[in-house]
Amino acid sequence: MATQRTFSIIKPDATKRNLTGAIAAKFEAAGLRIVASKRIQLTLAQAQSFYGVHSERPFFGELCDFMISEPIVVQVLEGEDAIAKNREVMGATNPADADAGTIRKEYALSIGENSVHGSDAPETAAEEIAFFFSGLELVG
Ligand code: CMP
Repeated sequence: MATQRTFSIIKPDATKRNLTGAIAAKFEAAGLRIVASKRIQLTLAQAQSFYGVHSERPFFGELCDFMISEPIVVQVLEGEDAIAKNREVMGATNPADADAGTIRKEYALSIGENSVHGSDAPETAAEEIAFFFSGLELVG
């Protein structure tokens, strides 16, 4: 597997509890390099657009309201098999199902307030990185 890039969000429940550094340390300990990072606050329109694939889900409104409730930290992570590795480090979407030592097991509060988002495939990783970062912000 070649070097890959994936997209990550440190969500409002985690930034609010000052867990940005602790979560970044988990990525780095797993061999993922943080090659781009910024703290931003989403507008409702931006949250709805980013999570557009979930627009028909019953939790869509709750998800978007949560994602704009506090600043988030968006990052690009790079490494061998970065997409799968990041998903491993994050743990299952629902913290109740997450393995010991994962970010969601240690920090997530619920399935909604689950501390991190990570891309699920190469196509979504490319789309999600381009949604938040310009070419100028991404060093090769
Ligand atoms: P994420 O990886 O950001 O992608 C979609 C998000 O929807 C997911 O993480 C969860 O935070 C959220 N989500 C999924 N299922 C539910 C649910 N049943 N109730 C509230 N939020 C959910």
